[in-house]
Amino acid sequence: MTEFDAALEAALPAESAWPATIHRAVRYSLFAGGKRIRPLLVLAACDAVGGERARALPLACAVEMIHTYSLIHDDLPAMDNDDLRRGKPTSHKVFGEAIAILAGDALLTRAFHLMVEMPADADADACRLRLAATALLGEACGTTGLIGGQVVDLESEGRAIPAAELEQLHRAKTGALLSACVRGGALLGGAGPDEVERLGRYASSIGLAFQIVDDVLDATEGAERLGKTAGKDQAAQKATYVSVHGLERARAMARELLGQALAELEPFGTRAQGLAELARAIVDRRA
Ligand code: IPE
Ligand code: IPE
Ligand code: MG
Ligand code: MG
Ligand code: MG
Repeated sequence: MTEFDAALEAALPAESAWPATIHRAVRYSLFAGGKRIRPLLVLAACDAVGGERARALPLACAVEMIHTYSLIHDDLPAMDNDDLRRGKPTSHKVFGEAIAILAGDALLTRAFHLMVEMPADADADACRLRLAATALLGEACGTTGLIGGQVVDLESEGRAIPAAELEQLHRAKTGALLSACVRGGALLGGAGPDEVERLGRYASSIGLAFQIVDDVLDATEGAERLGKTAGKDQAAQKATYVSVHGLERARAMARELLGQALAELEPFGTRAQGLAELARAIVDRRA
């Protein structure tokens, strides 16, 4: 088990804790084998500024909880109506819709609870930084971030939307959380405002690239590799980078964004190696 998975495990009630159904549902989705890109970004951003990883670990756990909540809800019949996630039947298929909704709610709630649980001996500076990271996270998940993006994603089904609106949608539904991972990880690692701003530009590029690649993979890979239903964007007439720009242009745009992201890392030198590797993995991945 990685250091991260051990921390995530420790941040949750036991599977048998009352009431067992919800804890089983939460763990079912959280430990189903996601790529853990968001917590890896938090920890790599902390490394890039020479920070202590232990300080960023609560945020790493919180972002994976929030991401997993967003997937459980994204898959619900009222949203994307998906049967497969992380290689397993979706939460609502196994536990029913009501428990799947509550499992998402539980993960979202626990994430913010965890962010503000401070050790008794924490000093004022550590408390201040944790609050600042919590605020970043709240904004990223909110109506101008992830939720807003999901709203526009649903409203855009079956509709041709302008490229600029699609970019805004992708930046909100996926980019905002990735940006909070990077900026929050840097902040908790002790970054100054200039470093946070520069890493924010890195995050803005990889955040958009991440969703472009997700759109490309939906159109080009199979369910076996993806661990989720393939070809569903076209079937649901979703507005995607593939539907608006075409496959080749979408791929080229992701690659341009990778170049921009890597350029922002230059002043950080070898300490930003983790962030550079993650940026490449986001664009080159096949799942
Ligand atoms: C999928 O995210 C949902 C999007 C925001 C595109 P990931 O591709 O990171 O999913 P997991 O965590 O590996 O399952
Ligand atoms: C999901 O986008 C984004 C969030 C969960 C916020 P998608 O609907 O494209 O994600 P997948 O393809 O189902 O993983
Ligand atoms: Mg969706
Ligand atoms: Mg979906
Ligand atoms: Mg998708």
